[in-house]
Amino acid sequence: MTARPDPEGTSVTIDLAALPHDFLWGSATSAYQIEGAVAGDGRSPSIWDTFSHTPGKIDGDDHGDTACDHYHRWREDIGLMRQLGLNAYRLSIAWPRVLSHGDGPVNPKGLAFYDELIDGLLEAGITPSVTLYHWDLPQALQDRGGWPERDTAEHFADYAAVVADRLGDRVTHWTTLNEPSCSAWIGHLEGKMAPGLTDLTAAVRASYHLLLGHGLATRAIRAAAPGARIGIVNNLSTVFPATDRPEDVAAAHRHDGHVNRWWLDPVHGRGFPADMREIYGVELPERDGDAETIAAPLDWLGLNYYFPAHIADDPTGPAPHARSVRRPDVPRTGMDWEIDPSGIETLLLRLTDEYRARKLYVTENGSAFPDTVGPDGTVEDPERQDYLVRHLAACASATRQGAPLAGYFAWSLLDNFEWAYGYDKRFGLVHVDYATQQRTVKGSGHRYAGIVRAHRAGERKAA
Ligand code: FCB
Repeated sequence: MTARPDPEGTSVTIDLAALPHDFLWGSATSAYQIEGAVAGDGRSPSIWDTFSHTPGKIDGDDHGDTACDHYHRWREDIGLMRQLGLNAYRLSIAWPRVLSHGDGPVNPKGLAFYDELIDGLLEAGITPSVTLYHWDLPQALQDRGGWPERDTAEHFADYAAVVADRLGDRVTHWTTLNEPSCSAWIGHLEGKMAPGLTDLTAAVRASYHLLLGHGLATRAIRAAAPGARIGIVNNLSTVFPATDRPEDVAAAHRHDGHVNRWWLDPVHGRGFPADMREIYGVELPERDGDAETIAAPLDWLGLNYYFPAHIADDPTGPAPHARSVRRPDVPRTGMDWEIDPSGIETLLLRLTDEYRARKLYVTENGSAFPDTVGPDGTVEDPERQDYLVRHLAACASATRQGAPLAGYFAWSLLDNFEWAYGYDKRFGLVHVDYATQQRTVKGSGHRYAGIVRAHRAGERKAA
């Protein structure tokens, strides 16, 4: 039997007084997961269109063709954010909407969509936090080699310049990449996400060019929008050896290198970790000046946190020869992800102490559970509420200890297309009935709204 979160979680209190008065209380989404309208207004295909339409890649053979139809319903969705009292929204821009085929001419209708959306958010008093790349690479660039090729990094910077030029007069919060480790490792090594490769050389080259693209785009955004505050978003994990055997301890260190250090060290001017270079054994496509480009100064770091990793040695498995061990009898979400709120606190403090972060945002955190609309039309989700409160309490605790946390974005505003898991996994604060596109604020949405109100009213604690 799957262990469930402790229902006593409702007694956890959030130290609201630890959070700054101008804290950003947001929710997050990404373009392919919610927009739909994949062929609308000149959008060209992305690698996720291709991948999701390849039989057998996605649970239930779901795809993002319609998703939450946010492309047409964004006004209603802004209304939901207002209803929840949010003052920030993290969205991503679909590269294939903005530049036909990735490097082609600007598609005016695609840009206009985001232009109006940004205006709508600002009118509602909601600060937009814009991510330029949340995994939806234009298929045309994939056809020319994708992230394993240097050109893709350069095209990404050109695209960033176009968007920053258009929106930079109103948008100040910019993210270059969302979770580049998923693009590189899950997309090119494990093959479970687009583009679906299982090739270590391609994966390592992709990782390099993603970070190069990040650095080039950072420079391009600053040139186009001098007031921009730019960051990168990584999904980090707390890593524990599954046992105290020296082999497992070493494997845990390698896993930490794979999912955490490989992504943090280069952008902090420390270069790619030497131990991991050796483990991968793939020559990096380095050129003079790249290291400085990748380490372009940033204004903040984004943390996406979901679950911890318990790691055992896996000598015959793929690099980095480390495998996750499923611990019995611990609370889990509907994703089968272990629930451990202390991880978010540990990581915020690690970014503060080890990487000297000047400003931090939790750019994603949330949980999937199999929600249903009850006979009275409400959606009760006590487990998600418990997850939310416990993680917010851990964030406030990290802030109390000195982490410069400036905002929290719940994943997600809406139930949406959860990549390889399709629509079955629901992460939203708002339930979506995909047959009717009806939105219903869940219990967790109301709970979050109450916490935001309490903070705004100057209350010191929330439960
Ligand atoms: C993160 C992704 C996001 C969503 C959540 C559950 O890795 O950035 O798009 O799928 O996981």
